[in-house]
Amino acid sequence: MQLLKGRRQPSPEVRSMLEAMVDMVPQGRVPARIFNDPEVFELEQERIFGRCWVFLAHESEIPSPGDYVLRYIANNSIIVVRDEEGKVRAHLNMCRHRGNQVCKAEMGNASHFRCSYHGWTYKNTGELIGVPYWNEVYHRRLDKAEWALVPVRVETYNGLIFGNLDPDAPSLEEYLGGFQWYLDFYLKPGPNGTEVYGTPDKWVADTDWKICAENFAGDGYHTPVAHAFGFELGYFPSSARTHFEGVAVHIPGKGHAIGLGRTPGMPPFFGFPPEVVEAMQQTLTPEQVQVFSQVRTAVCTVFPNLSILLQPFSRIPGQPGVRFVTMRLWHPIGPGRIQMWSWCIVPKDAPQWYKDESYLAYTLAFGAAGMFEQDDFENWTNLTRQVKSTLARDLVFPYEMGMDLEPDPTFPGPGVAVPPYVHETNFRNMWSTWAKYMLRD
Ligand code: FES
Ligand code: FE
Repeated sequence: MQLLKGRRQPSPEVRSMLEAMVDMVPQGRVPARIFNDPEVFELEQERIFGRCWVFLAHESEIPSPGDYVLRYIANNSIIVVRDEEGKVRAHLNMCRHRGNQVCKAEMGNASHFRCSYHGWTYKNTGELIGVPYWNEVYHRRLDKAEWALVPVRVETYNGLIFGNLDPDAPSLEEYLGGFQWYLDFYLKPGPNGTEVYGTPDKWVADTDWKICAENFAGDGYHTPVAHAFGFELGYFPSSARTHFEGVAVHIPGKGHAIGLGRTPGMPPFFGFPPEVVEAMQQTLTPEQVQVFSQVRTAVCTVFPNLSILLQPFSRIPGQPGVRFVTMRLWHPIGPGRIQMWSWCIVPKDAPQWYKDESYLAYTLAFGAAGMFEQDDFENWTNLTRQVKSTLARDLVFPYEMGMDLEPDPTFPGPGVAVPPYVHETNFRNMWSTWAKYMLRD
């Protein structure tokens, strides 16, 4: 495949801001401007989303041969499809003849995709097999092998399908760099893993993807304030007095981070049914069980823009609740603007009543009209608007919380684990990683 490459370079002004971040971030400062800026957005499209492993879909969304969903990496529409041999593939959703969108439905089942303009037809492997008038006007000279759909690299981890636009990027395993140990909390609740409940919720919001990704990288600080009602009314088994307890873990240089919040006195595996607890004890390692059994909230970001939250929630305030897991993709569609994708995942082997309750809890808390969701998006959209002002763009934010804290050398998981749950160590690592990608020519 021949590509005519011309890559965007940062302006001298943005380059000097990014270079300044190399020293500034470890000292606890981040420029406000990065959260809503047209040039930063354009540069991220190539330097972040053109290089990182970006979440595409959960394998349970395309269980059978021919199943497909439409997803995005940056501004590229991607068909994620299971071919007739069962292999997961991804293709740029663009006809090679003149660029028309070949697949228009968001999800479905197809052995072939036929372009609605001149009729070029592709197998779901991407191979071009049908060209109208191939004999009569191309005189059989057009080489169909040259004009297959553009393939996108895909790799999976425990049901999660990621894509990468960079042929030279490291493997997904290397990219995750040990963060798999924490992803297992969400993805290995039993021998058959997880499945998506229903279809993803989607909505558009005027906020920058990075604010959301940072929040889910372990911002336990906002919870007792922004979601105060959850504590006061008893939806949420924690108290503002002890909410800071737990640990925050990051993978240095990779940007991935997780906050593990604990509620003192909470029984192990609170909110899971006994069948799921038993299954987890078989699928997780003893070290994972030791850590995870104590966790109330596990909230993480896989750099750059996939976040996952596991949380107990009581539909009837004050009553014992259930756990729910939501995966959310903060897909940037413009400076200070995202399309939000939100899935609920459940243990595949769990009893149906638990799956239903878990989904209800997710919907009430973090669905499109979820109570917690509203709290967050109100703050995030206001913040995004404020940082765009002419005065604000030259300011910096303090990221110094927890700079004097020491990692816990006895913590059994990979990465750097720094107690307690509430501080900004994870975020400093995230912004250093972001600046590193943005500076790489
Ligand atoms: Fe698809 Fe012409 S654009 S066949
Ligand atoms: Fe929140």
